[in-house]
Amino acid sequence: MGGVSFDGGSPPPSYPGKLTPYVLLTVLAGAAGGLIFGYDLGISGGVTSMAPFLEKFFPDVYERQQSITSTNQYCKFNSPTLQLFTSSLYLAALFASLAAGEVTKKFGRRISMMMAGFIFLFGAALNAGAVHLSMLILGRILLGIGIGFANQSVPLYLSEMSPYNYRGRFNICFQLMITIGILCANLINFGTAKISGGWGWRLSLGLAGVPAVIILIASFFLSDTPNSMVQRGREIEAKALLKRIRGVDNVDAEFNDMLAAKNEADLVESPWRNLFGTKCYRPQLAMSILIPFFQQFTGINVIMFYAPVLFQSLGFGSDASLISSVITGVVNMFATGVSIYGSDRWGRRSLFLEGGVQMFIFQSLIAGLIGWRFGVSGNVTDIPFWFAAVVVVCICVYVMGFAWSWGPLGWYPSEIFPLEVRSAAQSVTVAVNMAFTFIVGQCFLTMLCSMKYGLFIFFAFFVAVMTLFCYFFMPETKNIPIEEMTQVWRSHWFWKRFMNEPKIRPSP
Ligand code: BGC
Repeated sequence: MGGVSFDGGSPPPSYPGKLTPYVLLTVLAGAAGGLIFGYDLGISGGVTSMAPFLEKFFPDVYERQQSITSTNQYCKFNSPTLQLFTSSLYLAALFASLAAGEVTKKFGRRISMMMAGFIFLFGAALNAGAVHLSMLILGRILLGIGIGFANQSVPLYLSEMSPYNYRGRFNICFQLMITIGILCANLINFGTAKISGGWGWRLSLGLAGVPAVIILIASFFLSDTPNSMVQRGREIEAKALLKRIRGVDNVDAEFNDMLAAKNEADLVESPWRNLFGTKCYRPQLAMSILIPFFQQFTGINVIMFYAPVLFQSLGFGSDASLISSVITGVVNMFATGVSIYGSDRWGRRSLFLEGGVQMFIFQSLIAGLIGWRFGVSGNVTDIPFWFAAVVVVCICVYVMGFAWSWGPLGWYPSEIFPLEVRSAAQSVTVAVNMAFTFIVGQCFLTMLCSMKYGLFIFFAFFVAVMTLFCYFFMPETKNIPIEEMTQVWRSHWFWKRFMNEPKIRPSP
């Protein structure tokens, strides 16, 4: 039902072009932006479980943890202060992504990526050298601003640079880099936690500078996207670049579509007013809000942020917990590879639907297992090995389902917006993602303490809702050129009703 044929049955247009080494390199370099996000997602959980770090910056939390005698596993780590350290970064990223929308539109995708690298580098240095809580917080805010800029500009950059029939795969490079960033962070924490002298956390936080340097250097050498050049009136340069990145001389069809998109964009007065105020952008607006909201309500960051803590709550020793989170990190990374292979072959819808069903089944199983063993009191002291192993396997299969569906495709809105509102709408996607990353990061430990195993039922419920949503409302965008995407909405059984509404034009 939700799948569409393009333009009521006619085949989508195809542009000539090859996969040139130039475009491959630019896209790989651009995707390095995902590394800085991933590193941050993965690093805070481990750092906040390091005693010297807690003792220095959060002495009250440290003392409280030392004195806890309760055997209620659900509430062992409930601490709003600690959660704030993890989640505060995402608040800064939320506001930065809104500002980044203007920069990306006016100055191009590359400048936003460069700013992301610069600001992030400062943040990492400040965190590594922190001697006071205020330095730590300021560093987190700078990292957040860097992430806001990177997540706003990199997915757009990838969507626009890639040949239309490779776009799914190229976009997913961003997510692949996120998962590599998370895994590196897990491994680094595992190593630095063992450094005697108590300064391991400095190394963990400081190494965030490495991906920042990569994106900074890359953005000095990368070219901007032809779409952004056309948008800023640099048409001759844009056409030359398009020939270079597509590896053919005949780029007229694609270039003319870009010009048409730009002319259409010029007729639109304010992207923000249009996006929120006119009905014809309802489908894109709905996706830019719902997709990142749903992505966070899969509950994935419960695992990503708090896996070591969660595994300890399940009765694992601290080393076993860190190892288990490395295992989920490896599964996350390899399963993302599956969607790189499949998104342009099987389509986005099949991945969303299969991933949703898989996550629902395994999240329900996790809820059942924990409920059965821990009950409502959470008072369990002896947990058999087989039980822990089954829970880890269920978590891994759940992570796998996420990694080839909602993980990468959570960034898919970047490919569905028309040029005139693309930058603004991408800002909305990132801001919503960051808002709910913040909320999940801030509330998980408290929710676990009050909802017990019901927390996993709560997330399973949302997974069921989002899978039904995809079935009915998500059009297939595989193999549709980015500047032709409006046709997908025009021919969708539900969204087509909005598409003939007028846009807000400048008064003559
Ligand atoms: C999400 C993150 C999540 C990560 C896990 C990303 O797409 O936005 O919140 O931690 O995937 O791989």
